[in-house]
Amino acid sequence: MKKHIAVLAGDGIGPEITDGAIAVLKKIGEKYGHEFEFEHLLMGVCAIEETGEPLPQYTIDRCLASDSVLLGAVGGAVGDPRINNLPGHLRPEAGLLKIRAALGLYSNLRPAKLFPALAGACPLRADIAAKGIDLVVVRELTGGIYFGERGRGQSEGGEYAYDTEKYNVEEITRIAKIAFELAQKRKKKVISIDKANVLESSRLWREIVHTVAKDYPDVEVTDMLVDNAAMQLVKNPAQFDVVVTSNIFGDILSDEAAMITGSIGMLASSSLGATKRGLYEPIHGSAPDIAGKDLANPIATILSAAMMLRDSFDLGKEAEAVEQAVNKVLDEGYRTADIFSEGKTLVKGSEMTKLIVDRI
Ligand code: IPM
Ligand code: MN
Repeated sequence: MKKHIAVLAGDGIGPEITDGAIAVLKKIGEKYGHEFEFEHLLMGVCAIEETGEPLPQYTIDRCLASDSVLLGAVGGAVGDPRINNLPGHLRPEAGLLKIRAALGLYSNLRPAKLFPALAGACPLRADIAAKGIDLVVVRELTGGIYFGERGRGQSEGGEYAYDTEKYNVEEITRIAKIAFELAQKRKKKVISIDKANVLESSRLWREIVHTVAKDYPDVEVTDMLVDNAAMQLVKNPAQFDVVVTSNIFGDILSDEAAMITGSIGMLASSSLGATKRGLYEPIHGSAPDIAGKDLANPIATILSAAMMLRDSFDLGKEAEAVEQAVNKVLDEGYRTADIFSEGKTLVKGSEMTKLIVDRI
């Protein structure tokens, strides 16, 4: 199989971690007889520096021409003079929103799993962690308040600003279907999260989720209010399997879900739309404080590459080979600084990549 992969390494630790994923994909290619080509493109602060905008049209065009996209991370440090005082639409984050919209990536899957070898890193009480954490946040990614009308104006109370949360039936239906189909491959349980006691958009969300649910009688669906969900995630995370929610609630809850696994440096994600062309990226950010020091954990990006193999290229066996190599390295006790604990072997980011590549 021959595939063309667009690489948006981005900022901070982005280039180090995408290098790790590329090395792994190259090894998979050699071992299983596939040819992966990589095309590096600008996005984020590095794109702003060179072109004045966070996501140049050329990058969009080349991503659209690719089979899939691998993304590192975008964003600069607080106070970075290259992005200080930039208007909202020229900030690096705007580039990320624009690529999601341009590629039509409405479905963002964020699995949060407690790796047995890292159970010690879980910040929750041991009896709670012992029940395990293995959930997927299905986050709607191209609608809601992130893309609704926004603006500023003047009122009697001074300047005002507003953003709009808005969802239509089609947007809710297609993301609900993704969640139910995923649930059929897992524990057949969907928890839909909203704020239907207050928001009209959430009331429509809830209504439509239940309409879609009728086509999946084998899946149990429960509604949960977002404030309660925030609490339940730390009280009893084992109750969650597939969680489906809006863009902004998914943003917030997926960080919480990642944190309770204790290893944000380990968590991958996929963003897909109507085609097989997806965007795969780690959940963590650009970590400018440790950039260039070979300290960053490449595993989240490597596991994102595994998701690409499985979900965009239908290479399930190859994806499993990557996941098994990661598990093996962890079982052997190798740790980057972010997941290090006493008695384990501390390694640099590039060493971690090499250990994984050698086990494929
Ligand atoms: C994420 C990030 C982005 C988001 C930002 C950087 C725009 O927080 O992918 O979760 O809010 O979607
Ligand atoms: Mn986020």
